[in-house]
Amino acid sequence: MKSIKLDISNVLGTVNEAEIQALEPEAAAGIDKINNASGEGSDFLGWLDLPSRTPASLLDDIQATAELLRKECEVVVAIGIGGSYLGAKAVIEALSDSFAPYRHAADSPAVLFAGQNIGEDYLYELQDFLKNKKFGIIVISKSGTTTEPAIAFRLLKEQLERQAGKAAAARLTVAITDAKRGALRTLATEEGYKTYVIEDNVGGRFSVLTPVGLLPIAVAGYDIKALVAGAVEMENATRNAGAGNMSQLYAQTRNALYRAGKKTEILVNYNPKLHFFGEWWKQLYGESEGKDNKGIFPAAVDNSTDLHSMGQWIQEGERTIFETVISVEETQHKVVIPTDDANLDGLNFIAGTNVDHVNKMAELGTRIAHVDGGVPNMRITVPALKEQYLGQLIYFFEKACGISGYILGVNPFNQPGVEAYKRNMFALLEKPGYEKETEAIKARLG
Ligand code: PA5
Repeated sequence: MKSIKLDISNVLGTVNEAEIQALEPEAAAGIDKINNASGEGSDFLGWLDLPSRTPASLLDDIQATAELLRKECEVVVAIGIGGSYLGAKAVIEALSDSFAPYRHAADSPAVLFAGQNIGEDYLYELQDFLKNKKFGIIVISKSGTTTEPAIAFRLLKEQLERQAGKAAAARLTVAITDAKRGALRTLATEEGYKTYVIEDNVGGRFSVLTPVGLLPIAVAGYDIKALVAGAVEMENATRNAGAGNMSQLYAQTRNALYRAGKKTEILVNYNPKLHFFGEWWKQLYGESEGKDNKGIFPAAVDNSTDLHSMGQWIQEGERTIFETVISVEETQHKVVIPTDDANLDGLNFIAGTNVDHVNKMAELGTRIAHVDGGVPNMRITVPALKEQYLGQLIYFFEKACGISGYILGVNPFNQPGVEAYKRNMFALLEKPGYEKETEAIKARLG
């Protein structure tokens, strides 16, 4: 079986094997807490065996809903934010033709996203683009009350009903939310939308392998069964503590680096299709570990693009960083660099070479330069950008995140800090019920 792999040899000049091994008991205890639901946040462990317990019938049902939307819509807008957005966006971007949005004869509806920001121009332009188009909506909110997606849904619901009529709009709207609670559940019941449930015990950032991620991914035309199958492989491979558990090794290594003063981890890719995978990963680790005044700061760069912007800082800035490089082994297509008679750019020495060979040498050269510059790096190889390996990668990072959070000594499954901005925003907007907060914040602003 081909699989993703982890290589930690390039960190060993910063921390040694013994320092990484010293964290083995804490990692094993973390795995025990996860497997036996005995740690803090254990009511949010639904992701743990989610891949293996997802029934084929659910995947078939999601596929059937996706087919309906694919058949009837030119565009499907997935509305959601945070964990209700990033996983689907990451997987779709990783698997899509880079120029799909500009191709006229697309055989799939375009999957667009909304509710992930409060940009007035973004929403205006989206609504303008959707004018006179056949479109459908997947509205995703676990709580059913999040402001950003609620605003986007209000606008697009009204537009879809106006353009397609109320009955068709109801048929082309799918709601993914809590089984019983929340405004979205109430509305979905009233309007008769097709719905899927986000289980109580699956947190937003761990929800990509639920209908939250699976439905938009299926609408985009990708194989959700292969994605889940890949996750099942990694679920099995990382179940128990031990030398072969790569989630455990990653968790131990990054915590050893953190204790050695490396406070920021940069997820590096050499494939532009992985930009949003970095965004998904940042949420997973940022929300899971950044608490109690602790936590590795998760950052991401897209190389070689960012070698020409962030490269200087990474090579020679403050030595508090380490990297985790995601390297895709096989490209999907082959492009050979042509010979040029004039050779003005001096590149004939690589004529006849595949572009990806140059990319791989850029990666290797950078990794060596960064080690020399005091930036240790781990490397995760992914055989190819295919559903199965993305499923493995997603589960690998989820399991490692739980273990790592417990090694760090935080509850990896809550996110109390996310509420602070909402409280202030509602106070400033004078939301009913926030009168005291409004008064306090106005006094503070003078
Ligand atoms: O990880 C999380 O819990 C958050 O990022 C949520 O996913 C995000 O805030 C959206 O919440 P909801 O799905 O309830 O609208």
